[in-house]
Amino acid sequence: MTTERAEQDTVAFEVRDGVAWVKFNRPEKRNCMSPKLNRQMLRVITDLEFRDDVGVLVLSGEGTAWSAGMDLKEYFRETEAQGLGAIRQAQREAYAWWERLRWYQKVTIAMVNGWCFGGGYGPLFACDLAFCADDAQFGLSEINWGILPGGGATKVATELMPMRKAMYHALLGENLKGPQAEAAGLVNESVPADKLEERVTEVAQNLLRKNLATLKATKDAVRRVREMTYGNAEDYLIRAQEALSWHDKSEGRLEGMKQFLDDKTYKPGLGEYDKSEAASAGD
Ligand code: ACO
Repeated sequence: MTTERAEQDTVAFEVRDGVAWVKFNRPEKRNCMSPKLNRQMLRVITDLEFRDDVGVLVLSGEGTAWSAGMDLKEYFRETEAQGLGAIRQAQREAYAWWERLRWYQKVTIAMVNGWCFGGGYGPLFACDLAFCADDAQFGLSEINWGILPGGGATKVATELMPMRKAMYHALLGENLKGPQAEAAGLVNESVPADKLEERVTEVAQNLLRKNLATLKATKDAVRRVREMTYGNAEDYLIRAQEALSWHDKSEGRLEGMKQFLDDKTYKPGLGEYDKSEAASAGD
Protein backbone atom coordinates (compact mmCIF):
# COMPACT_ATOMS: atom_id res chain seq x y z
CA MET A 1 0.00 0.00 0.00
CA THR A 2 1.65 3.21 -1.11
CA THR A 3 -0.97 5.74 -0.02
CA GLU A 4 -1.39 6.71 3.61
CA ARG A 5 -3.98 4.58 5.43
CA ALA A 6 -6.89 6.62 6.81
CA GLU A 7 -7.23 6.71 10.59
CA GLN A 8 -10.46 4.69 10.63
CA ASP A 9 -8.78 1.97 8.55
CA THR A 10 -5.96 1.31 11.02
CA VAL A 11 -8.16 -1.02 13.07
CA ALA A 12 -10.55 -3.69 11.76
CA PHE A 13 -13.21 -5.52 13.71
CA GLU A 14 -16.21 -7.78 13.43
CA VAL A 15 -18.54 -9.33 16.00
CA ARG A 16 -19.30 -13.04 15.63
CA ASP A 17 -21.02 -15.43 18.05
CA GLY A 18 -20.52 -13.21 21.08
CA VAL A 19 -16.87 -12.43 20.31
CA ALA A 20 -15.47 -9.10 19.09
CA TRP A 21 -12.55 -9.90 16.78
CA VAL A 22 -10.43 -6.74 16.73
CA LYS A 23 -7.34 -6.44 14.54
CA PHE A 24 -4.38 -4.14 14.30
CA ASN A 25 -4.81 -3.27 10.63
CA ARG A 26 -1.60 -1.83 9.22
CA PRO A 27 -0.13 -5.05 7.78
CA GLU A 28 2.05 -3.07 5.35
CA LYS A 29 3.74 -1.53 8.42
CA ARG A 30 3.67 -4.76 10.39
CA ASN A 31 0.89 -3.25 12.55
CA CYS A 32 3.24 -0.88 14.34
CA MET A 33 1.34 1.58 16.50
CA SER A 34 1.05 5.11 15.14
CA PRO A 35 -0.86 7.92 16.87
CA LYS A 36 -3.66 7.35 14.36
CA LEU A 37 -3.91 3.67 15.19
CA ASN A 38 -3.84 4.39 18.92
CA ARG A 39 -6.69 6.90 18.63
CA GLN A 40 -8.75 4.57 16.46
CA MET A 41 -8.18 1.59 18.74
CA LEU A 42 -9.51 3.52 21.73
CA ARG A 43 -12.61 4.45 19.72
CA VAL A 44 -13.21 0.88 18.56
CA ILE A 45 -12.78 -0.84 21.91
CA THR A 46 -14.85 1.85 23.62
CA ASP A 47 -17.72 1.31 21.18
CA LEU A 48 -17.58 -2.47 21.70
CA GLU A 49 -17.19 -2.52 25.48
CA PHE A 50 -20.81 -2.51 26.64
CA ARG A 51 -22.48 -4.05 23.60
CA ASP A 52 -24.83 -6.87 24.60
CA ASP A 53 -23.66 -9.00 21.70
CA VAL A 54 -20.02 -8.87 22.88
CA GLY A 55 -18.93 -11.12 25.73
CA VAL A 56 -15.23 -11.57 24.90
CA LEU A 57 -12.79 -9.42 22.91
CA VAL A 58 -9.96 -10.98 20.90
CA LEU A 59 -7.09 -8.76 19.71
CA SER A 60 -5.07 -10.02 16.76
CA GLY A 61 -3.15 -8.58 13.83
CA GLU A 62 -3.75 -8.51 10.09
CA GLY A 63 -0.95 -10.06 8.03
CA THR A 64 2.34 -11.39 9.36
CA ALA A 65 2.55 -9.31 12.53
CA TRP A 66 0.60 -8.98 15.74
CA SER A 67 2.28 -5.62 16.32
CA ALA A 68 5.85 -4.51 15.57
CA GLY A 69 5.64 -2.13 18.54
CA MET A 70 5.57 1.64 18.34
CA ASP A 71 5.88 3.31 14.96
CA LEU A 72 9.44 4.63 14.91
CA LYS A 73 8.53 7.21 12.29
CA GLU A 74 5.08 8.47 13.26
CA TYR A 75 5.12 7.83 17.02
CA PHE A 76 8.75 8.78 17.73
CA ARG A 77 10.46 10.80 15.00
CA GLU A 78 7.53 12.89 13.83
CA THR A 79 6.12 13.68 17.26
CA GLU A 80 9.59 14.45 18.65
CA ALA A 81 10.00 16.96 15.82
CA GLN A 82 6.91 18.75 17.13
CA GLY A 83 8.17 19.08 20.70
CA LEU A 84 7.29 17.93 24.19
CA GLY A 85 3.56 18.65 23.94
CA ALA A 86 3.21 16.34 20.95
CA ILE A 87 5.31 13.65 22.61
CA ARG A 88 3.15 13.67 25.74
CA GLN A 89 -0.02 13.68 23.63
CA ALA A 90 1.15 10.62 21.67
CA GLN A 91 2.07 8.82 24.90
CA ARG A 92 -1.34 9.59 26.42
CA GLU A 93 -3.12 8.24 23.32
CA ALA A 94 -1.20 4.96 23.43
CA TYR A 95 -1.39 4.40 27.17
CA ALA A 96 -5.09 5.33 27.19
CA TRP A 97 -6.25 2.33 25.21
CA TRP A 98 -3.87 -0.08 26.94
CA GLU A 99 -5.24 1.03 30.28
CA ARG A 100 -8.82 0.79 29.00
CA LEU A 101 -8.09 -2.76 27.92
CA ARG A 102 -6.48 -3.71 31.26
CA TRP A 103 -9.73 -2.92 33.06
CA TYR A 104 -12.07 -3.81 30.22
CA GLN A 105 -15.61 -4.87 31.05
CA LYS A 106 -15.27 -8.08 29.01
CA VAL A 107 -12.55 -10.73 29.12
CA THR A 108 -9.86 -9.97 26.56
CA ILE A 109 -7.63 -12.42 24.71
CA ALA A 110 -4.45 -11.57 22.79
CA MET A 111 -4.24 -13.84 19.75
CA VAL A 112 -0.64 -13.28 18.75
CA ASN A 113 -0.37 -14.37 15.14
CA GLY A 114 3.12 -13.01 14.40
CA TRP A 115 5.69 -10.40 15.42
CA CYS A 116 5.24 -8.79 18.84
CA PHE A 117 7.81 -6.17 19.78
CA GLY A 118 8.45 -3.53 22.43
CA GLY A 119 5.39 -1.34 22.77
CA GLY A 120 3.31 -4.35 21.76
CA TYR A 121 3.92 -5.68 25.27
CA GLY A 122 1.52 -2.99 26.55
CA PRO A 123 -1.57 -4.44 24.85
CA LEU A 124 -0.21 -7.97 25.32
CA PHE A 125 -0.25 -7.48 29.09
CA ALA A 126 -3.53 -5.58 28.94
CA CYS A 127 -5.24 -8.67 27.53
CA ASP A 128 -6.32 -11.07 30.25
CA LEU A 129 -5.25 -14.19 28.39
CA ALA A 130 -2.77 -14.67 25.55
CA PHE A 131 -2.36 -17.39 22.93
CA CYS A 132 0.20 -17.34 20.16
CA ALA A 133 1.26 -19.18 17.05
CA ASP A 134 4.37 -21.35 17.42
CA ASP A 135 6.10 -19.22 14.80
CA ALA A 136 5.20 -15.88 16.43
CA GLN A 137 8.20 -13.98 17.77
CA PHE A 138 8.41 -11.80 20.85
CA GLY A 139 11.17 -9.30 21.49
CA LEU A 140 12.20 -6.32 23.56
CA SER A 141 14.08 -4.90 20.58
CA GLU A 142 14.51 -1.50 22.23
CA ILE A 143 18.10 -2.37 23.20
CA ASN A 144 18.84 -2.93 19.51
CA TRP A 145 18.07 0.65 18.58
CA GLY A 146 19.31 2.48 21.64
CA ILE A 147 16.40 3.00 24.01
CA LEU A 148 15.21 1.25 27.15
CA PRO A 149 11.94 -0.71 27.09
CA GLY A 150 9.58 2.11 28.02
CA GLY A 151 5.84 2.54 27.70
CA GLY A 152 5.39 -0.13 30.34
CA ALA A 153 7.34 -2.81 28.47
CA THR A 154 9.92 -3.26 31.25
CA LYS A 155 7.10 -3.52 33.75
CA VAL A 156 5.33 -6.11 31.61
CA ALA A 157 8.48 -8.24 31.33
CA THR A 158 9.02 -8.20 35.09
CA GLU A 159 5.34 -8.85 35.82
CA LEU A 160 5.18 -11.88 33.55
CA MET A 161 8.69 -13.33 33.78
CA PRO A 162 11.09 -14.25 36.56
CA MET A 163 13.80 -11.61 37.12
CA ARG A 164 16.66 -13.46 35.38
CA LYS A 165 14.60 -14.16 32.30
CA ALA A 166 13.26 -10.59 32.17
CA MET A 167 16.77 -9.17 32.51
CA TYR A 168 18.20 -11.40 29.77
CA HIS A 169 15.24 -10.62 27.53
CA ALA A 170 15.67 -6.86 27.99
CA LEU A 171 19.48 -6.77 27.75
CA LEU A 172 20.06 -9.11 24.81
CA GLY A 173 17.19 -8.17 22.52
CA GLU A 174 16.93 -11.76 21.30
CA ASN A 175 13.51 -12.93 20.19
CA LEU A 176 11.51 -15.71 21.79
CA LYS A 177 9.52 -18.00 19.53
CA GLY A 178 6.03 -19.08 20.59
CA PRO A 179 6.92 -22.14 22.71
CA GLN A 180 9.71 -20.17 24.44
CA ALA A 181 7.27 -17.33 25.11
CA GLU A 182 4.92 -19.83 26.70
CA ALA A 183 7.71 -21.26 28.86
CA ALA A 184 8.73 -17.74 29.89
CA GLY A 185 5.16 -16.82 30.90
CA LEU A 186 4.44 -14.25 28.19
CA VAL A 187 1.47 -16.26 26.89
CA ASN A 188 -0.80 -18.99 28.19
CA GLU A 189 -0.25 -21.32 25.27
CA SER A 190 1.60 -21.53 21.99
CA VAL A 191 -0.09 -23.61 19.30
CA PRO A 192 0.55 -24.33 15.61
CA ALA A 193 -0.44 -21.31 13.51
CA ASP A 194 -3.23 -23.17 11.73
CA LYS A 195 -4.80 -24.10 15.09
CA LEU A 196 -4.56 -20.67 16.71
CA GLU A 197 -7.97 -19.27 15.83
CA GLU A 198 -9.65 -22.58 16.61
CA ARG A 199 -8.08 -22.71 20.08
CA VAL A 200 -8.91 -19.07 20.85
CA THR A 201 -12.50 -19.61 19.66
CA GLU A 202 -12.79 -22.61 21.96
CA VAL A 203 -11.55 -20.63 24.97
CA ALA A 204 -13.81 -17.70 24.11
CA GLN A 205 -16.86 -19.96 23.84
CA ASN A 206 -16.00 -21.59 27.18
CA LEU A 207 -15.83 -18.13 28.75
CA LEU A 208 -19.16 -17.12 27.23
CA ARG A 209 -20.94 -19.92 29.08
CA LYS A 210 -19.90 -18.39 32.40
CA ASN A 211 -21.54 -15.53 34.25
CA LEU A 212 -20.11 -12.41 32.57
CA ALA A 213 -20.46 -10.19 35.64
CA THR A 214 -18.47 -12.75 37.62
CA LEU A 215 -15.79 -12.89 34.93
CA LYS A 216 -15.31 -9.11 35.18
CA ALA A 217 -15.09 -9.20 38.97
CA THR A 218 -12.65 -12.11 38.82
CA LYS A 219 -10.28 -10.62 36.23
CA ASP A 220 -10.15 -7.35 38.15
CA ALA A 221 -9.48 -9.25 41.37
CA VAL A 222 -6.53 -11.12 39.85
CA ARG A 223 -4.96 -7.87 38.65
CA ARG A 224 -5.70 -5.87 41.84
CA VAL A 225 -4.57 -8.32 44.52
CA ARG A 226 -1.09 -8.60 43.01
CA GLU A 227 -0.31 -5.19 44.47
CA MET A 228 -1.94 -5.75 47.88
CA THR A 229 -0.89 -7.17 51.22
CA TYR A 230 -2.65 -10.39 52.17
CA GLY A 231 -4.91 -8.56 54.61
CA ASN A 232 -5.83 -5.88 52.12
CA ALA A 233 -6.57 -8.54 49.52
CA GLU A 234 -8.88 -10.42 51.88
CA ASP A 235 -10.78 -7.24 52.58
CA TYR A 236 -10.88 -6.15 48.93
CA LEU A 237 -12.21 -9.53 47.86
CA ILE A 238 -15.08 -9.35 50.38
CA ARG A 239 -16.01 -5.88 49.09
CA ALA A 240 -15.62 -6.97 45.46
CA GLN A 241 -17.90 -10.00 45.98
CA GLU A 242 -20.49 -7.81 47.69
CA ALA A 243 -20.33 -5.34 44.79
CA LEU A 244 -20.66 -8.25 42.36
CA SER A 245 -23.76 -9.49 44.16
CA TRP A 246 -25.27 -6.06 43.52
CA HIS A 247 -24.11 -5.80 39.90
CA ASP A 248 -25.13 -9.32 38.90
CA LYS A 249 -28.84 -8.79 38.33
CA SER A 250 -29.21 -12.46 37.34
CA GLU A 251 -28.21 -13.37 40.93
CA GLY A 252 -25.86 -15.99 39.54
CA ARG A 253 -24.53 -17.24 42.87
CA LEU A 254 -28.02 -18.00 44.16
CA GLU A 255 -28.86 -19.78 40.90
CA GLY A 256 -25.55 -21.64 41.04
CA MET A 257 -26.30 -22.84 44.58
CA LYS A 258 -29.88 -23.79 43.65
CA GLN A 259 -28.89 -25.85 40.61
CA PHE A 260 -26.28 -27.71 42.68
CA LEU A 261 -27.97 -28.09 46.07
CA ASP A 262 -31.66 -28.34 45.12
CA ASP A 263 -31.96 -29.31 41.45
CA LYS A 264 -28.76 -31.41 41.44
CA THR A 265 -28.34 -30.66 37.72
CA TYR A 266 -24.60 -29.89 37.76
CA LYS A 267 -21.50 -29.96 39.97
CA PRO A 268 -19.50 -26.71 40.34
CA GLY A 269 -16.32 -28.75 40.58
CA LEU A 270 -16.92 -30.10 37.09
CA GLY A 271 -18.38 -27.17 35.16
CA GLU A 272 -20.53 -24.06 35.31
CA TYR A 273 -24.23 -23.75 36.13
CA ASP A 274 -26.67 -23.24 33.27
CA LYS A 275 -27.11 -19.50 33.17
CA SER A 276 -30.02 -19.72 30.72
CA GLU A 277 -32.00 -21.05 33.68
CA ALA A 278 -31.29 -17.91 35.72
CA ALA A 279 -34.15 -15.55 36.57
CA SER A 280 -32.94 -12.79 34.25
CA ALA A 281 -29.97 -12.38 31.96
CA GLY A 282 -28.55 -9.55 34.06
CA ASP A 283 -25.04 -10.21 32.91
N1 ACO B 1 8.07 1.46 13.09
C1 ACO B 1 8.00 2.03 11.87
N2 ACO B 1 7.93 1.31 10.73
C2 ACO B 1 7.94 -0.03 10.86
C3 ACO B 1 8.01 -0.69 12.10
C4 ACO B 1 8.08 0.13 13.25
N3 ACO B 1 8.11 -0.40 14.48
N4 ACO B 1 8.00 -2.01 11.89
C5 ACO B 1 7.92 -2.19 10.56
N5 ACO B 1 7.88 -0.99 9.94
C6 ACO B 1 7.76 -0.72 8.50
C7 ACO B 1 9.07 -0.87 7.78
O1 ACO B 1 9.85 0.30 7.92
C8 ACO B 1 8.59 -1.12 6.37
O2 ACO B 1 8.18 0.12 5.84
P1 ACO B 1 8.45 0.44 4.25
O3 ACO B 1 7.66 -0.59 3.50
O4 ACO B 1 7.92 1.82 4.11
O5 ACO B 1 9.92 0.30 4.06
C9 ACO B 1 7.34 -1.96 6.58
O6 ACO B 1 6.92 -1.70 7.91
C10 ACO B 1 7.57 -3.44 6.46
O7 ACO B 1 8.61 -3.79 7.33
P2 ACO B 1 9.81 -4.76 6.93
O8 ACO B 1 10.92 -4.50 7.89
O9 ACO B 1 10.10 -4.67 5.48
O10 ACO B 1 9.10 -6.18 7.24
P3 ACO B 1 9.76 -7.59 7.54
O11 ACO B 1 8.61 -8.55 7.51
O12 ACO B 1 10.93 -7.85 6.68
O13 ACO B 1 10.30 -7.49 9.05
C11 ACO B 1 10.06 -6.89 11.38
C12 ACO B 1 9.38 -7.44 10.11
C13 ACO B 1 11.12 -7.89 11.89
C14 ACO B 1 8.94 -6.73 12.42
C15 ACO B 1 10.74 -5.54 11.07
O14 ACO B 1 9.84 -4.70 10.37
C16 ACO B 1 11.22 -4.82 12.31
O15 ACO B 1 12.25 -5.12 12.85
N6 ACO B 1 10.42 -3.82 12.79
C17 ACO B 1 10.77 -3.06 13.94
C18 ACO B 1 10.46 -3.85 15.21
C19 ACO B 1 10.81 -3.02 16.42
O16 ACO B 1 11.92 -3.04 16.88
N7 ACO B 1 9.83 -2.25 16.92
C20 ACO B 1 10.04 -1.27 17.94
C21 ACO B 1 10.04 -1.91 19.29
S1 ACO B 1 10.49 -0.75 20.54
C22 ACO B 1 9.08 0.10 20.89
O17 ACO B 1 8.01 -0.26 20.48
C23 ACO B 1 9.16 1.27 21.81
